[in-house]
Amino acid sequence: MTTRFITFEGPDGAGKDSVLDIVIPQVREHLHRELVVTREPGGDHIAEQIRDLILDPDNKAMDERTEALLYAASRRQHLQAVIEPALARGGVVICDRFVDSSIAYQGAGRGIGEQAVADLNGFATNGRTPDLTIYLDVPAAVGLERIRTHRKNQQYDRLDQEEAAFHERVHDAYLRLVHNNPQRIVTVDATAALQDVAAETLSILRAHLAGDWQ
Ligand code: TMP
Repeated sequence: MTTRFITFEGPDGAGKDSVLDIVIPQVREHLHRELVVTREPGGDHIAEQIRDLILDPDNKAMDERTEALLYAASRRQHLQAVIEPALARGGVVICDRFVDSSIAYQGAGRGIGEQAVADLNGFATNGRTPDLTIYLDVPAAVGLERIRTHRKNQQYDRLDQEEAAFHERVHDAYLRLVHNNPQRIVTVDATAALQDVAAETLSILRAHLAGDWQ
């Protein structure tokens, strides 16, 4: 199958941003197709406004279904405004988080139910599914420890303030997603050194994009 739509997933503290910072310039250099790199929540100016609303620490009282609906709304907007047009042009899209994040964070973490959140997102995405998902795996405790170390002097966002049990539920849900989607999701052990994680990630991307790689 041709790989065009690629997503990155992982619990907080998996090092997703650092890995993407290393890998994306190399993909840009070698891919001979348009490359669109984007992220959720956000990725388009309307969707970014929804992101600000969701992640604002002042909105701690937000109901969990409201939160799930806002993520889905942001995703719908982003999909229609950015992802679908890029795919229609024949481009490759790399998106930092997508539906799996909502299933893990809202479905399992917030306890709404993984199937309910999957169904909600089925409406939002009209069935659009990534061709490949790279899942950066770290145990919840390792992820939380990294967040605490690296963001010592910064304000945590609202989700990072949640308790360890929340992160355990998120991690467990990711493992279920991996188990249930073996064709789509490839796991990278993100407890390894950053350069090693980046190298493994790049080799997975290269293998999947082989026909468009020079
Ligand atoms: P980021 O750290 O990758 O920028 O993501 C911001 C936070 O948003 C992160 O804690 C995960 C959370 N999130 C959800 O809870 N549900 C979602 O659907 C998405 C896309 C992100």
